[in-house]
Amino acid sequence: MDFRSKPGDDDGIVSTMPVRAPVFDPPFNVVRASHVEFGVRDLTAARAFYVDCLGYLISDETRDALYLRGVEERNHHSIVLKAAREPMVDTLGFKVASEEDLDRAASWFAQRNLPTSFPDVPHQGRTLRTSDEAGMPLDFYFKMDQAPSMLQRYAAHRGARIQRIDHLNCFTPDVQASYDFYADLGFRLTEYTATDDPDPKLWAVWMHRKGNVHDLAFTNGRGPRLHHIGVWTTGALDILHICDVMATSGYLSNMERGPGRHGISNAFFLYVRDPDGHRVELVTSDYLTVDPDLEPIRWSLRDPQRQTLWGHPAPRSWFEEGSEFAGVPQREPMLAAHPIVAR
Ligand SMILES: [Fe+2]
Repeated sequence: MDFRSKPGDDDGIVSTMPVRAPVFDPPFNVVRASHVEFGVRDLTAARAFYVDCLGYLISDETRDALYLRGVEERNHHSIVLKAAREPMVDTLGFKVASEEDLDRAASWFAQRNLPTSFPDVPHQGRTLRTSDEAGMPLDFYFKMDQAPSMLQRYAAHRGARIQRIDHLNCFTPDVQASYDFYADLGFRLTEYTATDDPDPKLWAVWMHRKGNVHDLAFTNGRGPRLHHIGVWTTGALDILHICDVMATSGYLSNMERGPGRHGISNAFFLYVRDPDGHRVELVTSDYLTVDPDLEPIRWSLRDPQRQTLWGHPAPRSWFEEGSEFAGVPQREPMLAAHPIVAR
């Protein structure tokens, strides 16, 4: 493992922080985080939340599923809502750069004795279904049905005018192991939180493929579980507007945290919970990360500006609650360190 000094270190001492050099020639080419499949108990209630309130567009609707996209998305779906007995997550979707990348991915996962199959998935081309070493379900695909761009059909923009999916954020029982796994796949670290011990440990990591702060983030906690999906808005005013909408249309208790600005990533945010408790972050305003020599930014777990630049700690629910992956057993976190909690 390649140990790197912490950004800002100027004492010439190389720390033992287990942060590695980026991998620029991964075994297959992941383009970006693409979509999520949520199991929901009441499709009508979920539709009212995602479509009527948040402003998602409907790409397709069947008796037991709803396919949603943001206004700039030409891919058929970035959220799939499926009728289920209990709230859960079926899979996390990633787009790869070619059909050949799918075959390379299948070989890579099979070599690690991880499950691989190619199920038929509606509106997607060949789809590799597998999981990471923590058991987190993953779908990789190259082609998806295309939908009309609604970016300049402004009359159709409603609610928070959500543009596109931005990232997936997950609990993992072993942040170092999850970081190592996805670093091998070419996910590049942009920011991270570490303990302040003499032997520092990773508590959270933000990793990207597409060139902003993250496609995938991991936080220390019981897992694997999905913490939230992050969905992009054009600006902070869209987020402030949806606060007013939710507060006056029966969704006050669905607003969990924010609005605010993260220290990490500089993102302006609002966290909301859907009727099944799945967490959605409305987010905007992070930064470009394509430079190959970009040094990841280190944050202390005890720094209150890490969570919110304005100093407000997050509620306990934000650190403890998340969506379970269907049929995937969870483990308690290896690391006992605790963040600052508001209540
Ligand atoms: Fe996020």
